[in-house]
Amino acid sequence: KTMRNELNRLVNTASPADKKAFDTEMQSFFYLFTRYLAEKAQSHELDWDRIKSPAADQIIPYDKLSTKTDPKSLNKLAVLKVNGGLGTSMGMTGAKSALEVKNDMTFLDLTVRQIEHLNTTNRVDVPLILMTSFNTHEDTLRIIKKYANQQLRITTFNQSRYPRILQETLLPCPKTAGDDKVRWYPPGHGDLYNALVHSGVLDQLLAEGKEYLFVSNSDNLGAVVDEAILQHMIDTGAEFIMEVTDKTKADVKGGTLIDYDGSIQLLEIAQVPSEHVEDFKSVRKFKIFNTNNIWINLKALKRIMETEGMELEIIVNPKVTEEGASVIQLETAAGAAIKHFKNAHGINVPRSRFLPVKSCSDLLLIKSDIYSLEHGQLVINENRLFGTTPVIKLGDHFKKIAQFQKRFKKIPKIIELDHLTVTGDVYFGRNVTLRGTVIVVANEGQRIDIPDGCVLENRLLSGNLTM
Ligand code: UTP
Repeated sequence: KTMRNELNRLVNTASPADKKAFDTEMQSFFYLFTRYLAEKAQSHELDWDRIKSPAADQIIPYDKLSTKTDPKSLNKLAVLKVNGGLGTSMGMTGAKSALEVKNDMTFLDLTVRQIEHLNTTNRVDVPLILMTSFNTHEDTLRIIKKYANQQLRITTFNQSRYPRILQETLLPCPKTAGDDKVRWYPPGHGDLYNALVHSGVLDQLLAEGKEYLFVSNSDNLGAVVDEAILQHMIDTGAEFIMEVTDKTKADVKGGTLIDYDGSIQLLEIAQVPSEHVEDFKSVRKFKIFNTNNIWINLKALKRIMETEGMELEIIVNPKVTEEGASVIQLETAAGAAIKHFKNAHGINVPRSRFLPVKSCSDLLLIKSDIYSLEHGQLVINENRLFGTTPVIKLGDHFKKIAQFQKRFKKIPKIIELDHLTVTGDVYFGRNVTLRGTVIVVANEGQRIDIPDGCVLENRLLSGNLTM
């Protein structure tokens, strides 16, 4: 009740021009909030014993897909990047996709290159759609402005802005509709479906004759349009495809597909009862994880939104605000929508389709000479033996992007590197080469400077070393 009153009060503070849209947004939020309360009361946990691995026909190996494709099908496709997150784990305050990753180009620039290349080689017209949030909208517009006069059509729309909830009182954090940014949050990429409808973009796409939407994270440069998957969707009539890939020990947190009472569902770590978290992380029981590359049949989406609606599992994300208040954010994940679609299934794709940048260690790898660019696509350097990538572990001093940029004057050459571990206060000079296994450890209170032009091969450096 009180939440409802507070939301009404918020709506009354909105300017007349924004009032209607804001009211709709608060209604969607309130619906999510009441679901949260109901679930909390029932302790709505999954029954672990009913969770099974998906059946063989629910996850199709990528190499079983037919290679017979028809480029004309691409005219029915649109590409969407979810671009509303901040990359807080890398210390970003704007859109992560505005980060320069390679040859002075940002994630967004590279995505534009990829789709331009697709369109020109196939003579098709695949539009690019960017879902932004109030946190990332300006950064995104700044970058895409330079493509305004090009052939590629780029559309942006904003996802919802929901009020953070004070943990103690379960009341909204913001006091007015225009209250400070830090009191609101974008409710996860599962908000995509609501936002597509409310922005009018879904109807617009259908009116243009688009039938399929390929969705992926804006920081995943491996998520290029794959014609075999599109064709598979058309041939099988699958309304929803999730690209999954084999899990390694480093991917313990990603969501996985499960069979629950005969229906295919996404299981996220946040839904797992604490006593089963180790089970969830195991590579043996859950062999694959969700890459968040998702293919959606747009007519089916329209039907679902108009009939049953898109209820998705709520992920409760606790946070502490800059003002020191404990708040919760109710979020949802795009992949959870799989249970609403007919004939939905997973395709087990090669790892190369999942190249996200979740940390500065990932960023170092992508910026390095291990990869080169072809039409905005990352390809492994042909001089790299066996086509594998080195394992890179940068310590906490490299956690934030600003620190990373300060500590590498230039990205070292790592084409012959197998393993790099760096801990403590370490700085890299220009033209450094790293080969084999290199471990650099600066102890507490010490600093290590790797000088310009230095070559380190199978070396362990530690202590207070200035070379
Ligand atoms: P994640 O939340 O998994 O990761 O978003 P992230 O952006 O790397 O951020 P941090 O470090 O956890 O904060 C995966 C993708 O979903 C988008 C992000 O922009 C990213 O492309 N996203 C996330 C949204 O579009 N909206 C959201 O509300 C959250």
